Formats: sequence, structure tokens, C-alpha cells
Amino acid sequence: MTRDILDMLEERIVVGVATGDINRWVHTYTLSHGAAPAPLNYRGFPKSVCTTLNNQVCHGIPDGTVLKDGDILNVDVTSILDGYYGDASRMFLIGEVSEEARKLVQVTRECLYLGIEQVKPGHTLGDIGHAIQQHAERHGYSVVRDYIGHGTGLQFHEPPEVRHFGKPGTGEMLAPNMVFTIEPMINAGDYKVEILKDGWTVVTADGSLSAQWEHTMRVTEDGVEVLTG
Ligand code: MF3
Ligand code: CO
Ligand code: CO
Repeated sequence: MTRDILDMLEERIVVGVATGDINRWVHTYTLSHGAAPAPLNYRGFPKSVCTTLNNQVCHGIPDGTVLKDGDILNVDVTSILDGYYGDASRMFLIGEVSEEARKLVQVTRECLYLGIEQVKPGHTLGDIGHAIQQHAERHGYSVVRDYIGHGTGLQFHEPPEVRHFGKPGTGEMLAPNMVFTIEPMINAGDYKVEILKDGWTVVTADGSLSAQWEHTMRVTEDGVEVLTG
């Protein structure tokens, strides 16, 4: 369901669309397919999806903001179907995007998939974080510390905490049927962040661009199954 919602958005998100339009499309599609949008009223979050633009890091609130040429946008969808949560996000490039921004989006996507490659029984959470941090920092980017991946399933956020930085061989050991997200937030500049007065929107402290990609996955007997893939 979560993947289908993101797929539905691919052709619709273009120059001139408002982030509030995206909220309406996600909300309507989710309900009409028998699911519920997890963000709505979660700890007081006012909308059904997070839309996070340019120098914002995560938890952007859909509003009247109109997408313009050159923007980069993260849409983070979490739906609840038959009591189970699925959580995933993608980046959307709006019109002609600078080479600099496209590279950040691409490297961040690579960070997600390098993290996923580490998911198998016997590996640790630190192996995931290390793979992501190495790749981001090799490109001169930084890994956001204050927001992390998480177990999910019967609640939005469950143990374990999945850091996107760390040391190989450290942290909890992965075992079959653990279900969690990996969702690196990578900044072009410094990793420090601030929260806007709306109480939700997280932005880079230095104003630099930020990107994020997210999947929910299950550890299998010999590897990983990407549940939102
Ligand atoms: N989907 C986000 C995550 O990846 C959480 C959003 S919480 C909300 O964990 F309240 F902002 F929706
Ligand atoms: Co998540
Ligand atoms: Co999410």
C-alpha cells in the first residue's frame, strides 16, 4: 500500500503542484483502499503525509507551498493496513534540478541501498550505520544524527533504533523476522539541525540542502526482504 501510494504520486508531482495537493491525494487514495494514513494526528501532526523541501530535513507539513523549478522534495508515506504499518519515502526532482542537488539525491539513495545490503542475520545495526556514513562522508556530505530509522509493525515506531552512522560489528545483532526502516537523512553541509516554530519541520542549521530515502524491510533467514519495495 505504501509503495503504491508513492507510485501514484510519481506522475503527479510537477511544477505548480502545492504540497497540500499531495496531502489530499495521499489521504484520499489511502482511505479509498481501506487503509489509514499514520501521520494524521500522530503526536499532533496535522496532515496525512510529510512533505519536506530543499533545506528541510524531515517532518515537513503540507500547506499552500507551490513546487517550483529546481526544488527537491521528500514525500514520506506511512499507511496502516490490517493493523500493520508500512513506512517509506522517496525524493522527487521538480523540473530542472541543479547538478549539485541531483548528486545529493543520488548519493542519499545509494546510502539507503548500501545500508540494505548489510541486512542479514549475524550482521549488526552498526554495520548498517557504518556503510551509510562511509558513503555519505566520502562525498563530503554529513549524516543527520538526531533522527533515525526504527522498528515498525504494530506501532509506528518500535525498537530497535536504527542509526545511520556507527562502527562495524557494534550494536544489536540482526535476526530473522526483525522488521525495521532504514531512512538516512544526508545533508550537503553540516549535520546539525533545528526545528521550526511549527514544532515539526526540521531544517539544516546551516541552510544546506538535505535529502532522504526510506524503506521498511524484514530480515529473512539469509538476507533481507524490502517490504515497501
Ligand atoms: N514517517 C516518519 C518516519 O519515517 C515519521 C513521521 S511522524 C509524523 O519515521 F508525525 F511527522 F508524521
Ligand atoms: Co520511518
Ligand atoms: Co517515514
